[in-house]
Amino acid sequence: MQIENPLLEEALRAIEKSLDEVTLEALRVEYTGKKGRITEKLKKLGSLPPEERRQEGEVINLMKKRVFAAISARKEVLVAEAIKIQLDAERIDVTLPGRGKAQGGLHPISLTIERISSIFLSAGYEVAEGPEIEDEYHNFEALNIPQHHPARAMHDTFYLSSGEVLRTHTSPVQIRVMENAAPPLKIICPGRVYRCDSDLTHTPMFHQVEGLLIDEQANFASLKGTIEDFLHSYFEKELPVRFRPSYFPFTEPSAEVDMACANCSGKGCRICSNSGWLEIMGCGMVHPKVLEMSGIDTNRFNGFAFGMGVERLAMLRYGVGDLRTYFENDLRFLSQFVG
Ligand code: FA5
Ligand code: MG
Repeated sequence: MQIENPLLEEALRAIEKSLDEVTLEALRVEYTGKKGRITEKLKKLGSLPPEERRQEGEVINLMKKRVFAAISARKEVLVAEAIKIQLDAERIDVTLPGRGKAQGGLHPISLTIERISSIFLSAGYEVAEGPEIEDEYHNFEALNIPQHHPARAMHDTFYLSSGEVLRTHTSPVQIRVMENAAPPLKIICPGRVYRCDSDLTHTPMFHQVEGLLIDEQANFASLKGTIEDFLHSYFEKELPVRFRPSYFPFTEPSAEVDMACANCSGKGCRICSNSGWLEIMGCGMVHPKVLEMSGIDTNRFNGFAFGMGVERLAMLRYGVGDLRTYFENDLRFLSQFVG
């Protein structure tokens, strides 16, 4: 039904012009609320003659319906506009370059220790640990290096005022393990060690991985085979290695293991002091005196031990010329080692 009514037209125009939902609600109250201007008309119906009353009632109800319909249509338009404005403001420009996240990584020395450990763990070794502040007994005496023994000069020791020392090698952990567990034993001990020493191939703090095997069959051939197998796995290729007779008070016989210098491929350079070789570890058959001092029956058991320099192994694998770069914390250097 068409209705021509100035009040309705005024309401519809106002609704059409409204710009937000608050105004729309005010218009609803103004025209169709309890005291609204259209509602008021209903109250006047009673004064009309009955035949007009029905028709006028229908007209008023229709007006109210038209007002409601207009309000909800306008509301939809306003909501859609608001969403459009919000979407425009939040639009993502997929052509912008990404921000990128900086990827952290493990220190090359940690990576090397993990690599060394995983090779020995897969061969049945267990990891043991000991204190970095060590007593002289474990660092020296129990390793057959008594107080005034000249071998103490091999270690440029940092002494603490307490009388203790910063351990100069990981070998004292061998003693701690033998004191606390019964053979057969098969352990490695990775850790920090300290010596008053600094140049291209020496740093005052460095890392060693100690190895100790005690059983009834250990001999020098099995020690040599263990070290060769390890180096093969570690470098993933056969590299020139030599066992050079050496001396340690806690092993007999003893050897040091050298590898061809990676920097000059064995030709001789300042890193290897022109020798073409770089020393990576010391090793030998555990001295019977050391076994006895730790309470191990030397008639039944013997063993071998080795202690390798982690920085040297990392240096050879990664081709790093100067050991000191590992400890300068330059991210441009460190971030090159991933995995
Ligand atoms: C020892 O420390 C013995 N405890 C090794 C050992 C263990 C022998 C068990 C027998 C049985 P040496 O002082 O040679 O030995 O050090 C072992 C390795 O540590 C060296 O071959 C070298 O690779 C590394 N190393 C020694 N001093 C430094 C240093 N200042 N900086 C970096 N690496 C070093
Ligand atoms: Mg040495």
